[in-house]
Amino acid sequence: MKTLIGGLLGGAIILVLALLSVGILPATSLKLVEGYMPMQMLFELGISVLVFALMSRLLSMGGISLPRFWQGILFWAFILLYLKFRVYPPIPFSVRAMYGTVALIAVFMWMSSNEEDWKKFKQPILNVLDAGTPFHKALRTTYLIALPIILWGYSYNSFLPNLDEPVELRTVHPAPPASTKVHGKTFVLQTSQNPYRVNPEGKYDQEYTNSKIVEQAMGRLLKPEANPWDEKAEGYLKYVREGGEIFFQNCHFCHGDNLNGRGLHAFAFNPIPANFTDPGTIAQLQETFIFWRVAKGGIGLPNEAFPWASVMPPWEQHLTTDEIWKVILFEYWHTGYYPRTWD
Ligand code: HEC
Repeated sequence: MKTLIGGLLGGAIILVLALLSVGILPATSLKLVEGYMPMQMLFELGISVLVFALMSRLLSMGGISLPRFWQGILFWAFILLYLKFRVYPPIPFSVRAMYGTVALIAVFMWMSSNEEDWKKFKQPILNVLDAGTPFHKALRTTYLIALPIILWGYSYNSFLPNLDEPVELRTVHPAPPASTKVHGKTFVLQTSQNPYRVNPEGKYDQEYTNSKIVEQAMGRLLKPEANPWDEKAEGYLKYVREGGEIFFQNCHFCHGDNLNGRGLHAFAFNPIPANFTDPGTIAQLQETFIFWRVAKGGIGLPNEAFPWASVMPPWEQHLTTDEIWKVILFEYWHTGYYPRTWD
């Protein structure tokens, strides 16, 4: 009786975990709580270690013992699936490969923690290599034939040129709305101005601020008399610095430390994050257009931009209006572009 319940329980847990990792039961049905994501991830992985231990215990009480070798492989596969399907936003492959390697080493240490376990772990591999029984002999022959074929197929595939057309043409810069509401305040795009683009008298002054940004003709050089990181910097330059701090706390993961769209996470996404140094992005847009885009993010794009599956976050949920204006100021300052005016 006890073993029956154990077996059923173990089976049910395996099923849920398997469904979860394969994504049939959408991983998003169990939300990752913002801000606590790393802790939640470690907690969930910790729980799954316990569940796995419990399951193998129940199974062995029921008289079915999963070979050590397969326990290790299964657990490792579980971690890989977890990282790929559970964690959102997606982790880039290069980072997942590192986590996977660390997990493999951990599993290996677990498997070889004592002589007896290590022997059990090696046994299935040695069995196949020794080919003592007809079954193992067949298995070894299959491997000998299949492995080169798989490798050949893989290399053949990676050498094939890809002739597919781009799937669809998308409107990268759709027409903006006439006005946008951020934190309860309505901004008319045609008439709103960045409150931090001001001259020493505190008046909106694009000429003045343009004269303070990096030289475009000379490449991206800092103007010696206009250094935002100077502690005595006041007004416009001070706001640029504050915008820079916001940028490096929130945006550089995707848009890159050089603002060129090559952040650490950039290549996990399609479309990739905008490259602000490219004259096709902020340089040809009005500052209020950028304000609207930063505040509303990918999900705030109009239907016209469909299916623009952008991961650009709606920053109004995380930043104040002032912070959004400042980070925009920084983006123009750093790239050396001037915002386009409404003409
Ligand atoms: C999770 C990755 C990610 C983060 C973090 C992120 N962005 Fe983006 N961003 C994108 C992607 C992807 C695009 C391109 C698709 C689009 O236009 O929505 C984009 C586009 C933009 C655009 C539109 C440029 C254009 O040419 O239309 C602006 C402006 C922008 N981001 C500003 C920011 C700012 C400011 C921050 C930080 C406060 C930030 N982004 C953080 C992913 C990100």
